[in-house]
Amino acid sequence: MSQSNVWTHKGTFILAAVGSAVGLGNLWRFPYVVGENGGGAFILVYALTVLLVGLPILMAETLIGRHGRQSPIMSMIALTKSHNTSKIWQVIGWMGALAALLILSFYSVIAGWSVHFGIQQFSGSMQGASHEAIATVLDNLLASPVLLLVYHTLFMVASAIIVGLGVHRGLEKGLRIIMPLLLVMLLLVLAYGAVYGEMGQAASYLFSFNLSALSLQGWIAAMGQAFFSLSLGLGAIMAYGAYMPARESISKSAATIALADTGVALVAGLAIFALVFAAQLDPASGPGLMFISLPIAFSAFPAGALFGGVFFILVFFAALSSSISLIEPVAAFLVERFRLSRLQAVCAMAATAWLLGILTVLSFNVMAEGTIFHTLFKRSAFDSIDFLATNILLPVGGVLIALFAGWALSRAEVERELGTNARWFLLWQFAVRYVAPTAVLFVFLKGLGFTSGDVWPLVVALGFMASFVAGRSLWLKADS
Ligand code: TRP
Repeated sequence: MSQSNVWTHKGTFILAAVGSAVGLGNLWRFPYVVGENGGGAFILVYALTVLLVGLPILMAETLIGRHGRQSPIMSMIALTKSHNTSKIWQVIGWMGALAALLILSFYSVIAGWSVHFGIQQFSGSMQGASHEAIATVLDNLLASPVLLLVYHTLFMVASAIIVGLGVHRGLEKGLRIIMPLLLVMLLLVLAYGAVYGEMGQAASYLFSFNLSALSLQGWIAAMGQAFFSLSLGLGAIMAYGAYMPARESISKSAATIALADTGVALVAGLAIFALVFAAQLDPASGPGLMFISLPIAFSAFPAGALFGGVFFILVFFAALSSSISLIEPVAAFLVERFRLSRLQAVCAMAATAWLLGILTVLSFNVMAEGTIFHTLFKRSAFDSIDFLATNILLPVGGVLIALFAGWALSRAEVERELGTNARWFLLWQFAVRYVAPTAVLFVFLKGLGFTSGDVWPLVVALGFMASFVAGRSLWLKADS
């Protein structure tokens, strides 16, 4: 790969990865998932998952990316050849591209809502309005396929322009503008929450770890949230890792990224719950938390229109710096493999995701409950796409990445890339070889209906064995 595709500045990898990680997952998904799962107990589980499963896989993705130095698909093709392993592992690249397409399709639609809410906030029309009136803003938006499509298109075009401009002029430059802006806006909203909200109540809600409230259901939600929030399992971080200068430490970068992502989620959670509590709203109100409860809370306090507007701009840009990481891996592949120009590649990916996004647009109106699709699949198209990508493709991809990095790459290669000492290396290796695969297996079995908590020693034994077999014998060496 030419030197031109290495980030120009030291630290751009961290900036880009944090940009990818911090998005709707932190500002929209995290608070409502916390609310649905009882607050502090969930956060404890989430933090453990990030540390034991997320961080090791984050390191694995980065190191495969930098080692391969190409798009995820091409890197995996090259690495399976050079390491003489089965071609099976190339599904990491292909599955990742599919997951990126699926996630981008609905991500863009939901990010588009923030444009609508930003406009509504700044217009001041929500100030002093009744709770019911504010709640109908979302209902009315969702009832209009045309409006949804307009915002979806706007967001997709904005994302495509940044990626289309290239690694340096687009991504690097864009991120160097967006990310500091995000930090400022986040602090503004936090300050607003501190002044008008019930910070104390929010803090005790988020940080009082009532261990008895720790449900198995919480583990499942925490796993999906960790993969989604850290941008793991589909090659986004791998693609950014491919542009990372050789000297930068992967372990330190990964720790910084995980810390920043979790930090932003907590700060956003603090600000949002402080306002929600102050307006005496329900923290467990589900996906509508950000688009219904928060505007209601803003409407109740001074300068709420202004700060509410700022908040939704924050959401928009956080989503933008994430969506570009969904386009980049696939676009880079199309350029490498089919010799498309960057612009052609980006347009191909964005247009396909845009088309697919129409399914999500229609899920809220034309294809909502009661229609054929809904009856056939027992959930909306949006829920189906989200479920397939977030709860299945991401964890499976993440485990395959962990297994490949943990078993196929040599110790010397990994140690050189990670830049850690032997102790940390062994810890990391144990995590990617055994802990992460077992944790995901556990959650999957649970999802399949093995509901009893008593089976966990069995699952742990099974997970360790399966990982060992996959790593050693089922490895299917290409020449045997
Ligand atoms: N992490 C982003 C968020 O929290 C979403 C995202 C961007 C993502 N790129 C990804 C999720 C890659 C999974 C994989 O909003």
